[in-house]
This record gives sequence, structure tokens and C-alpha cells, in this order.
Amino acid sequence: MLAVLAALAFLRPVSAQSLSASDIAVVTQNLATGAQHSWELGTRAQALLNLNVPNFSVFTTTGLPPPTSVPSNTTSAIAPVFSIAHNVVTKLNASSGPTPLIVGDGAAGDPPSIGVAVLLANWTGQGSDGTDYAKAALNQLDYTLNVVPRTPDGAISHRAAQVQLWSDSVYMVPPFLAYYGLLTGNTTLMDEAYNQIKLYRNYLRDSHANNLWQHIVLGTSGQDTGNDFGHWSTGNGWAAAGMLRVLATMKNSPFSKSFSSQQRDLGNWVKEIHSAMFAHIDNTNIFTNYADQPISTSGMFYDAASTALIASTVYRAALLINDHSHLPNAEKCRQALFAAPSNSSSNLALVGRAPGDNSTSSASHNSASASASQSHVSSSSSASATAPATSPSATTAPIKQLAHFSNDGWLQPVVNPNQFGVQGSNSPEGQAFVLELQASYNEWVAAGSPGANAARRTAATAGWASVVGCIGLGSLLLFV
Ligand SMILES: *[C@@H]1O[C@H](CO)[C@@H](O)[C@H](O)[C@H]1NC(C)=O
Ligand SMILES: *[C@@H]1O[C@H](CO)[C@@H](O)[C@H](O)[C@H]1NC(C)=O
Ligand SMILES: *[C@@H]1O[C@H](CO)[C@@H](O)[C@H](O)[C@H]1NC(C)=O
Ligand SMILES: *[C@@H]1O[C@H](CO)[C@@H](O)[C@H](O)[C@H]1NC(C)=O
Ligand SMILES: *[C@@H]1O[C@H](CO)[C@@H](O)[C@H](O)[C@H]1NC(C)=O
Ligand SMILES: *[C@@H]1O[C@H](CO)[C@@H](O)[C@H](O)[C@H]1NC(C)=O
Ligand SMILES: *[C@@H]1O[C@H](CO)[C@@H](O)[C@H](O)[C@H]1NC(C)=O
Repeated sequence: MLAVLAALAFLRPVSAQSLSASDIAVVTQNLATGAQHSWELGTRAQALLNLNVPNFSVFTTTGLPPPTSVPSNTTSAIAPVFSIAHNVVTKLNASSGPTPLIVGDGAAGDPPSIGVAVLLANWTGQGSDGTDYAKAALNQLDYTLNVVPRTPDGAISHRAAQVQLWSDSVYMVPPFLAYYGLLTGNTTLMDEAYNQIKLYRNYLRDSHANNLWQHIVLGTSGQDTGNDFGHWSTGNGWAAAGMLRVLATMKNSPFSKSFSSQQRDLGNWVKEIHSAMFAHIDNTNIFTNYADQPISTSGMFYDAASTALIASTVYRAALLINDHSHLPNAEKCRQALFAAPSNSSSNLALVGRAPGDNSTSSASHNSASASASQSHVSSSSSASATAPATSPSATTAPIKQLAHFSNDGWLQPVVNPNQFGVQGSNSPEGQAFVLELQASYNEWVAAGSPGANAARRTAATAGWASVVGCIGLGSLLLFV
């Protein structure tokens, strides 16, 4: 009987634990204050669309392209996205020809991340004030396709100064190309989004590491930034999340049928990353900064940011490609990330901190002296067009006590977003990943938690054996 009760306990619905509305508000506010760099602005725009304005997200359930006008009850939810686009585009010279959306960013691949917000602003008529969003998007497209250096086989560099490929780029560039193709009816561009991902996978997938993706390959450190052959957890997350955005853009578009093989490949490549990553997660259910390097590795630390990003892509995969195999992992990650302190190892933040590292990301947010070899931002030309640097420290109400959040509402522990090998304190992209996790989880629940049985079945395997055993025993007793 005890065995049966235990088995039934395993069969309770998947926990509905999630952040409260006020927690989400604090996380959102910190993201708004902290996001300054090009990729942070683009990542913030995506998170806000996905969480707050799903009808204008590529993950919409109402089909693409999105509506050409914003319903009055949606205006305030989408306003921060348009404000990102407006702030960026009004700093540009529309007549200048091929130009990135943020001029002087050493990373050619990061400014296009803002492109979806800019295209959406054009599409919904925000340019009636004279701001030429379409021209800014076209200039970014021309710059990406025709100015940025490429590998001989056509992979568009993540860096401007030399050909170098970063896994990050998969989130920043192909979703923009696909969205541009969607809104202009240009299937060549949609195909190019796929092609770029395919090329990036060829360079970055490490078949000697069970298909984890490396972080940075090609190029020389003397000229620009160094390589990082490690399997950076956030980079694997960027790649999976970027692929899912392109997949969703194709799938929800009028051209879906002509892109079926591309969608199938993208789905398989996402699953490939999930399988590679989850093979390494330890019993904290939080990834280490380099997924295949255990926490005992010198200088290694846990990274809640990549964990949130990867988990979000599992719920997306459940909805988009009906892959449920990693839902049990994602549920464990989500529950660990949003747990109260008493239930989890609340001092994870201190585990594995590199000796002598008291770094905070705020210290290097607008610092051109942050080691160029470890920074998204070029040492020579940082932030010429980014908003004035402000301290990302929170001015918001305290968050309820949660193991993986500071009292002022920052996810922790996290990698320093400007120095990928080093633990930081406040990560704007980490805040965006929390919102992505919440958004994808909400949508998964709203869709009826497809595959939740898979999530339960794994946990219940042992329990089921007992149930079957008991029923078998009961039948035996009845029939004897
Ligand atoms: C999304 O669009 C659909 C179809 O137009 C509409 O019925 C629904 O109310 C919209 N959802 C929101 C949250 O505005
Ligand atoms: C906007 O109004 C529609 C009905 O016209 C409703 O279905 C939708 O949920 C509303 N959207 C929001 C964000 O409240
Ligand atoms: C904008 O770019 C065009 C073309 O390069 C140039 O002629 C013009 O002077 C620029 N305008 C401003 C205000 O810089
Ligand atoms: C800008 O929006 C208009 C519709 O208002 C659309 O026809 C055009 O293709 C859009 N341009 C781009 C670059 O998306
Ligand atoms: C699609 O976009 C590419 C790149 O901008 C361009 O070369 C091509 O002419 C476009 N195709 C169509 C049909 O507009
Ligand atoms: C955390 O512990 C409290 C008290 O023991 C319990 O009520 C709650 O359900 C636990 N939460 C999780 C996620 O395990
Ligand atoms: C780090 O912080 C600790 C405790 O505040 C302090 O003792 C130590 O000197 C700091 N180390 C560095 C490198 O700043």
C-alpha cells in the first residue's frame, strides 16, 4: 500500500511553481536598467515580445506575419520594444548606406539582434513620426550580407575586424534574416537564415564532445578577440534558442510548406544540443559555465543564466517540434531556478567562485578596458551608440526570497556577460532568459502541458514498477 501511495505521489501534476507577477516585474525592471549593449537590447526586445505580446512574437499561435496595427489594449505592453527600436534608429543616418544598427560595435553579429524590433516598428506603422525604420533595417541587412567578412564557404563573421565565428551569432543574425524574409516575402532571405545556421553548426559542433558546440573559432587573438574552444553553456543556449526562433518564423509563415526540410533539420539540431547539454548537468540541476566541465574544475562555477535559457528552449521544442524527451530535465531546472532557499542549495552562488574574483558585471559594463580577448565589445570602439551607461544595480522593490535571485531581483549565480570565463553578479541577458523561461513555460502550460506525462513517467518509473507489482500481487491473491 505504501508503494502504491508513493507511486501516486509521483503522478501528481507537474508542479505549477513559477515566479509571482511582482517577481516578474522586478526581473523585467532590472533587465530594462541593465540592458545597454547591442545584443542585450535585442535580447531584451525578444524576451518582452515573447512574454508580454505573444501575438507579435514569432512563437505566436495566430500565424505570421503579425498584425499590421497594434490593438489599443496591447500598446503599453509593446511600447518598450518600440522604444528600443526608436532609440537605436534615431541615432542613425538613413542615407549612409550599409550600416549596422549600432555603429562602432566591434561585433558585426550583435546589432542585427535589434533588427526584429526595428522591422516590427516599420511593419506596424511606428514610422509615421518620420523615423525610417525600414531604411535602418535595410542598411543593417546590406551591411550583414555585403560588408561583414565571411568564411570561404559563406558563414558571416561574428566580428567585424576579422572572420571569427561565435555561437552567440546564431541568436543574433539568422532570426533577423528570417524575419526580414517573412515581412518582405523574400524566401531567399529565409533560406539564408537556415544556411547560416547550417554553416555555423559545421564549424562549431564538436563531434568529439557529443555534439556540444564550441564557443569561438577562427581568427587570431592578436588582431581582435581570442578563441574559446570550450563548450560554453550560454553559447549552446544561444544556438538552440536562435534555431527555434528561425524554425518558428518558418513554421508560422505562409511559406512553411516550402521550408519543411529546413524545419526538420533545425528541430534535429536543437535536440542534438539538448541531448549534449543535459548529459552533463549535475544533481543541482544548474549547468556549469562550461557544461562538460564539472564544478570541481578549477575556476568553474554554476551558471543560472544559461540554465534558464536552455530550459526555455525545451518548452519551446515541446510546442514546436513535439519533442518531449528533455521536459523532465527542464522541469527540474525550472524548479531549481525558482525554488525557495530552504529547498535547494542556496549557497550555490558561492560554490566554485574563482579565487579572488569579486567581479561584478557593472564594473565592466561600459569599460573599454575589459579584456578585449574576453569581451563581446571591441576595446577600440565600445558603446558609441549605446545609451549612456547606468549602473544596473536595482532601484526596484525587493524580490521575495528565492534561492537563485539576489534580494534585489538579479538571477544568480551567473557568468559575467562581458567576460565569458568569469563569474559576474548582475547579468542583463540572464534577466531576459528568466523571462524567456517564464514565457515558454506559460505557453506550454496554456497548451495543456504536452508531454507532461513524459516528465512524470521518468520520475515514476520506479513507482510504476511497484504499482504493477502490487496489482500483480493483488490479482494473484484474488485468484488463488
Ligand atoms: C491575439 O490575436 C487573436 C486573433 O486576432 C485574438 O483573438 C487574441 O485576442 C489576441 N490575443 C491578445 C492577448 O491580444
Ligand atoms: C485585447 O482584447 C482582446 C479582445 O478584443 C482580448 O482577446 C485580448 O486578450 C486583449 N489583450 C490583452 C493584452 O489584454
Ligand atoms: C548621412 O550620410 C550621407 C551619405 O554618406 C552623407 O552625405 C550625409 O552628410 C550624412 N548626414 C549626416 C547628418 O551625417
Ligand atoms: C515596412 O513596412 C511596409 C508596410 O507598412 C512593408 O510593405 C515593407 O515591406 C516593410 N519594410 C521592411 C524592410 O520590412
Ligand atoms: C531577397 O533579398 C536579397 C538580399 O537582399 C536580394 O538580393 C534579392 O533580390 C531579394 N529577392 C527578392 C525576390 O526580392
Ligand atoms: C519547499 O519547502 C516548503 C516547506 O518545506 C514546501 O512547502 C514547498 O513545497 C517546497 N517547494 C519545493 C519546490 O520543493
Ligand atoms: C573579495 O572580497 C573579499 C571579501 O569582501 C575580500 O576580503 C577580498 O579582498 C576581495 N578580493 C578582491 C580580489 O578584491
